[in-house]
Amino acid sequence: MKRTTLLYAAFGVDDAAWLGGFREQAPDLDIRAWPDIGDPREIDYVFVWKQPLNLFDGMTNLRAVFSLGAGVETLLAGGGLPAGVPLVRMVDPGLATGMTEFVVLRVLHYHRNMHLHEANQRDGAWIQLRPKLPEDRAVGLLGLGNLGASCARALVGLGFDVRGWSRTPKLIGGVETVHGEDQLADFLCGTEILVCLLPLTADTDGLLDARRFAQLPRGAFFVNVGRGRHVVEEDLLAALDTGHVAAATLDVFREEPLPRQHRFWTHPSVTVMPHCAALTQPKTAVRTVLDNLRAHLAGAQLRHVVDVARGY
Ligand SMILES: NC(=O)c1ccc[n+]([C@@H]2O[C@H](COP(=O)([O-])OP(=O)(O)OC[C@H]3O[C@@H](n4cnc5c(N)ncnc54)[C@H](OP(=O)(O)O)[C@@H]3O)[C@@H](O)[C@H]2O)c1
Repeated sequence: MKRTTLLYAAFGVDDAAWLGGFREQAPDLDIRAWPDIGDPREIDYVFVWKQPLNLFDGMTNLRAVFSLGAGVETLLAGGGLPAGVPLVRMVDPGLATGMTEFVVLRVLHYHRNMHLHEANQRDGAWIQLRPKLPEDRAVGLLGLGNLGASCARALVGLGFDVRGWSRTPKLIGGVETVHGEDQLADFLCGTEILVCLLPLTADTDGLLDARRFAQLPRGAFFVNVGRGRHVVEEDLLAALDTGHVAAATLDVFREEPLPRQHRFWTHPSVTVMPHCAALTQPKTAVRTVLDNLRAHLAGAQLRHVVDVARGY
């Protein structure tokens, strides 16, 4: 009997950890690595990242595609995904842990005035600053999905005044939730530290522009760990130049790697990170993919299937 075939087609990642992990944890599967795919009609599942254009050609029996990443906009835009074949995005505890650590780190950084203490040290200035109580600090999360909800729960645990915005209503203990575009202006007005954890879709592309930054209170902080295209970069720079946005931590950019001449690199109020707020961890994610795949083989519904029309 033919063994179930999983094609590994992830590019720009640590093959030893990923492919090695699949081979070690699933000796029962026929695991092939691009470009040695054999007969494409034999491929049942594909594990993919940054796929080549014609990856899926001839895979007439494909049952599902697993993405290495949580954000799937590039996979969807790249085309070539066979119609009707489910695309599964990455929902993994290791990824959520990494993102939660990073968001908590940057929220605490601004909350505890570390940006000011660092500047004061450069000036040799000994200035005590009393931090606010966390309950008096409003942190607003754009996006309350797998990652946003995990960050929200951790921030609630630290005592912050946590609010969240999503497309549909949400119930998360201790979080004041709102939804829909109608409620975005009010949400921004009450947010002192804004964290973007949205997926990139037609609706969220360019969402954070001059109008939206102006709706934040003066001196707000911004952490972008969603996607670079959520932000109109010139508008953010203008808001930083006037101090309306006091400081920003940017992990994602319209062009990556961030071009050397980009103003973000040298702006005194910007922290640039090389898109590593949360990297998918092979140690946990290989298991996550295999658990989903095996349950599917046993007749269960796949979990975390992307709604292609919605874009996430
Ligand atoms: N920087 C990094 O290292 C890194 C790593 C991983 C992921 N990411 C980014 O993080 C994103 C979120 O990941 P996730 O796993 O948390 O995604 P998710 O579980 O799909 O959650 C997405 C959230 O965004 C909300 N949303 C989507 N469109 C919206 C709209 N038009 N208006 C309001 N809310 C909207 C959704 O609302 P509903 O729940 O109501 O649908 C949901 O709460 C990824 O797509 C990726 O771009 C970045």
